[in-house]
Amino acid sequence: MNSIVSINDLSKQELLSLLDAAAYFEAHPNHKILDGMVVATLFFEPSTRTRLSFETAVNRLGGRVIGFSDPAATSTSKGETLKDTIKMVSNYVDLIVMRHYLEGAARYATEVTDIPVINAGDGAHQHPSQTMLDLYSIYKTQGRLDDITVTMVGDLKYGRTVHSLLQALSHFRVKFNLVACNELRMPEEFRTFCDNNSIAYTESAEFSPEIINSSDIIYMTRVQRERFADLEEYERVKDIYTLHNAMLTDSRPNLRILHPLPRVNEINQDVDDNPKAYYFQQAKNGLFARQAMICKCLDINIDDLKHMNNG
Ligand code: CP
Repeated sequence: MNSIVSINDLSKQELLSLLDAAAYFEAHPNHKILDGMVVATLFFEPSTRTRLSFETAVNRLGGRVIGFSDPAATSTSKGETLKDTIKMVSNYVDLIVMRHYLEGAARYATEVTDIPVINAGDGAHQHPSQTMLDLYSIYKTQGRLDDITVTMVGDLKYGRTVHSLLQALSHFRVKFNLVACNELRMPEEFRTFCDNNSIAYTESAEFSPEIINSSDIIYMTRVQRERFADLEEYERVKDIYTLHNAMLTDSRPNLRILHPLPRVNEINQDVDDNPKAYYFQQAKNGLFARQAMICKCLDINIDDLKHMNNG
């Protein structure tokens, strides 16, 4: 099966091939290689970037899209199970892109269908297409994935983007600074993963000048209100970390600020005009990374495309 549920489904070589394909699609975004194919985007949770960039990716590759962004308007609201929904949609399409609020939902979907599934985010678990665009953004801005310091800030507990990114970067020589208060600390599972794989990391509750000024990448995250059982706890922690432009005065020239978006209060708008702010370009890179992932899942060989383009 060609599904991508977790970033761990991909080897280092596959990650590098996807980055190469993303670069190709950035240079050549329009190809009619999905002619006659249909992709379903099933979004059981809200999304702006992920759904629209997947749909744009399909459109630019000449395919067609069906799907929904509001499960309340589907037979899910009548009690239809996820299994039945996936089996039905599989009758109509060549690939399913699915976001779901339950961890493990995407893996479950792969078990009840014979067509490939791309996980567009499952609860607090994984968001592999976000990780591919994050890797591509880091590679584009730093020129490498080895020997960099990545500082992750904010909701490291519920943020599926940081969980996926940490695991993807474990293939490379990366040092992590994990900045979070105790309530939002990186889960033990991922700290153990670092320990077991000799990945260097520090933990701090303070987003200090020393941390900022020694970073190549600062990856800010939104506190995930929708994952909190206790909303009073959310209110206590939601505004602990905000990046302001003045905090970047002595940062490295190559520093780039990333954020998976949407942001709430984590990055003050006075950062937006700083050349080190890269979050809007990062979101744009999602189109190319997702074109690459769609082709991989549909067994479309990028080398053939490159050959055709050169010919
Ligand atoms: N980064 C991200 O997943 O954004 P959306 O929730 O808007 O898709």
